[in-house]
Amino acid sequence: MILLQFTGLSGSGKTTLAENVSMMLSAKGYQVKIVDGDVYRKTICSDLGFSKEDRLENVRRLFKVGCDFVESNCIVLMSVINPYEDLRKEIAQFEFVKTVFLDCSLDKLIQRDPKGLYQKALLPEHDSNKIKNFTGISDVYEVPLKADLVLKTGLETVQDSTQKLYDFIINNIVTNQSSFKPTNPSSCQLPISFSIERLQQDLLICETNLWTPHFNTGRYEGNWTSVSLRSQSGKETDILSFPDKEYKNTPLLDSCSYFKEIMDWFECEKEAVRLLRLGSDSEIKEHVDNDTSYEDGFFRIHVPIVTNSEVFFYVDKKLVPMKMGECWYANFQRPHYVQNKSSEPRVHLTLDCIRNEWSDNLFSQMGFDISYTPNNDQYSEEEKQQIIAELSRNPSEINNQIIADLQLK
Ligand code: ADX
Repeated sequence: MILLQFTGLSGSGKTTLAENVSMMLSAKGYQVKIVDGDVYRKTICSDLGFSKEDRLENVRRLFKVGCDFVESNCIVLMSVINPYEDLRKEIAQFEFVKTVFLDCSLDKLIQRDPKGLYQKALLPEHDSNKIKNFTGISDVYEVPLKADLVLKTGLETVQDSTQKLYDFIINNIVTNQSSFKPTNPSSCQLPISFSIERLQQDLLICETNLWTPHFNTGRYEGNWTSVSLRSQSGKETDILSFPDKEYKNTPLLDSCSYFKEIMDWFECEKEAVRLLRLGSDSEIKEHVDNDTSYEDGFFRIHVPIVTNSEVFFYVDKKLVPMKMGECWYANFQRPHYVQNKSSEPRVHLTLDCIRNEWSDNLFSQMGFDISYTPNNDQYSEEEKQQIIAELSRNPSEINNQIIADLQLK
């Protein structure tokens, strides 16, 4: 839990560094929010200009937004010129705030001028295109007297500044908030890919089999069918998957040597292994699958066999860009949905696997904190009823499911 208040002239690299470091932190499983002046000036700050009062109000509003994100355990990067020392001091009083000064000389900024703003700010007085009150040119920028981190963005490379910023954040999270742990990513590509040709050859063998419609008809629209390569009964038409049950290979798997090879690549126990076909113009609605996260000791793998750019797979509101032959893990305990907006069916091979030492090694290589176990939120009865009441006010399929889960606890 940390909020970085950036300060620096326009073009000093605030947005670039925020975006770079955000990617690095997200890859490590941290929740990151960028609160960018340019972005919010188009929405909640669109009534504000560049007078002193308006700039103060702008930064205060962004800080308020940032604080809300901090409360939900995000790392917040407040990317804004933030030109006044008094306001920066006021904000820096909070323990979770760190001030980062992006120090770049005006000469360099005028020379770089990626948005062409300095050129406009330097136009003659009478020119109608001139930007007035431009920070550093015709308006004040108070150089910070005390910053927690100074990045010389005019002298060092973007990579160097990004790395310094990243290290600073990591060190400050650890020292400030030792109990804070990142959550593992909600989806992640494995460092292995498979032959598309061989995947599709094996799929062809399975085409003659009966593909069973998915049992939970309320969860999808259109066509969602499956055929099993490994199931509880050992039958191809048995497409249910329950945890901690015995699973057997189906006779179909004997004819699919490549699927077998892929299964063998995973040096761990496997439960259900299936082909899942989502028909053209079909949608799997948003839902959660309980006990399907790596932290629960389980991981579901997807290998797209046939897909295209009109298939959208979202986990935790993030698009998971799975391509044919690639291999992906996702935490399906998080809300997820799939839309096939194309006129072709999409087929994935999915493998339900049981976590072991081999997979811990693999997932830690992918940046997972394998010692991580989610808070098994234990609510009091009163808290539980409050949450249920809150969710009932806004009925949706996902909320109903969460209510049903809470009632079982
Ligand atoms: S602050 O001064 O209120 O902290 P903020 O970061 O939100 O500024 O907005 C700065 C951005 O607004 C700049 O990156 C630039 O794109 C744009 N801008 C437009 N006019 C001005 C101006 N007069 N001074 C500074 N930035 C301006």
